Amino acid sequence: MVLVILMAEKLDYLQELGIGIIWVSPLYKSPMDDNGYDISDYYEVDPSFGTMDDLERLIKEAASKDIRIVMDLVVNHTSDEHPWFIESKSSLNNPKRDWYIWKKPAPNGGVPNNWGSFFTRSAWELDDTSNEYYLHLFSKKQPDLNWTNPEVRHAVYNMMHFWLQKGIGGFRMDVINMIGKPNDFRDASILDEGIPGWEYWANNNRTHEYLRQMNDEVLSKYDIVTVGETLFTTSREGKFYSHKDRHELNMIFHFEHMGADAAEAINDPSPLNLPKLKEIMSRWQDDLYGKGWNSNYWSNHDQARSVSRFGNDGDYRVQSAKMLGATLHFMSGTPYIYQGEEVGLTNTYYDTIDDYNDIKDHHQYDLLINDKGLTTEEAIKRIQPYSRDNARVPMRWNDGDHAGFTAGTPWLKMSDDYKEINVAKALDDPDSVFWFYKELIRLRKESPYANVITYGRHKLLEPNHPQLYAYERYDDTQKLLILSNFSTEPCHVAMDVTIKDVLMTNYNVIDPVLKDYTMSPYETLVVSIC
Ligand code: GLC
Repeated sequence: MVLVILMAEKLDYLQELGIGIIWVSPLYKSPMDDNGYDISDYYEVDPSFGTMDDLERLIKEAASKDIRIVMDLVVNHTSDEHPWFIESKSSLNNPKRDWYIWKKPAPNGGVPNNWGSFFTRSAWELDDTSNEYYLHLFSKKQPDLNWTNPEVRHAVYNMMHFWLQKGIGGFRMDVINMIGKPNDFRDASILDEGIPGWEYWANNNRTHEYLRQMNDEVLSKYDIVTVGETLFTTSREGKFYSHKDRHELNMIFHFEHMGADAAEAINDPSPLNLPKLKEIMSRWQDDLYGKGWNSNYWSNHDQARSVSRFGNDGDYRVQSAKMLGATLHFMSGTPYIYQGEEVGLTNTYYDTIDDYNDIKDHHQYDLLINDKGLTTEEAIKRIQPYSRDNARVPMRWNDGDHAGFTAGTPWLKMSDDYKEINVAKALDDPDSVFWFYKELIRLRKESPYANVITYGRHKLLEPNHPQLYAYERYDDTQKLLILSNFSTEPCHVAMDVTIKDVLMTNYNVIDPVLKDYTMSPYETLVVSIC
């Protein structure tokens, strides 16, 4: 059972790395239409992961190692197999009818409006029994809850208390900026970007009202951390969610930088645009400074592996994985490491759509072929680099059968590279990505630089440089300079600074002279300067 494995064998590994929190993807009972993001019972653990006893033991055992377990809170929608929806659907007069968003057909008998969904073309599905449509911003097995109904909100808050009383460390809130829907359901006018309708349901004012109520009634009563997942959010809105005086959330995951290589625009993929990436990251650093708090990430279960996407998973895998780690860990905010990022795991490509499990891939594949006219070979090439399954392939623990993940059959095919790239190897190699990450974490937590890394100001240097990501962090007494070469080409820097100390290097550089210095491919150098 997965929970038992995490508890018994892997907590020591994570403690060695130095992390403080484990955010677990949804573990609740689910028909698994969308990897557990379709929940049919918020109070039960899905048997494929273990039992409630296992989870309670995990929470305790982790706490004994100073690690808190953060649960995924998926309350924009439930599964269509959740008893609430089954009741809601059963008749127009059912007391739970209004727990979901039902609309009559448009006058022409079609869908109520032109809103789109992430996993289907329309956001509406017709229920034949009542001849009404229900809203689903994700798959048709993920009907959206009606948050205007106070009974729904209180049912969610009660469920949150249930988990918090078990001692969890907080919540990562799934697509939380979509819970507030508008009063009217008028047609979307922005049809050429995002998902039609987002102008109305992303960051609607009602979401902020609900979050403040949730904070009053639940969050403020516990010592926990909260992070909201918020698609279509700018740094201005980021302040609204995470400003401490607004009493909503501690921090949010934004997606702006995930557009720096146009990955969302699967129709028109383009290479990483480093100046764009720097502009986005540094705007968030500056805009939230002293007002909100950043969550910094390169990857998660919805994104491809960062080393394959933003680094180089060939000759420079180790260097570029370290470079990405250092670039992120010296920023202001909380750094998130996705399982396996700490050993530099890479993407896994499949040649046919049948090997992909991800519901999003299947939807996009269909659009690429049927709307864009691509051949199956062309379509699969577009899916490969961005598929969410890249990150969902089982963790590679060692070079044994199925990378030590299971004695059974893994739920996604694994490529052979686990024989070379796995946790056991990384632990044995003092130069591995793992030990580099451990040091990054240590520097943030318990070094003379911890204060400036946590609270210092941020300043981007060389904004337009196509290869170099350079920034400073500083306070009244200390100044750090972070230099990263994001390319396979050497990169020349000329900076008139005096180095006091080298904090991190991925090329064993001893005494760099930055007045005239050539950085190697994917080199990263973090120094304290006068
Ligand atoms: C979030 C999750 C993603 C899921 C979607 C619907 O974006 O991270 O995995 O498919 O919400 O719940």
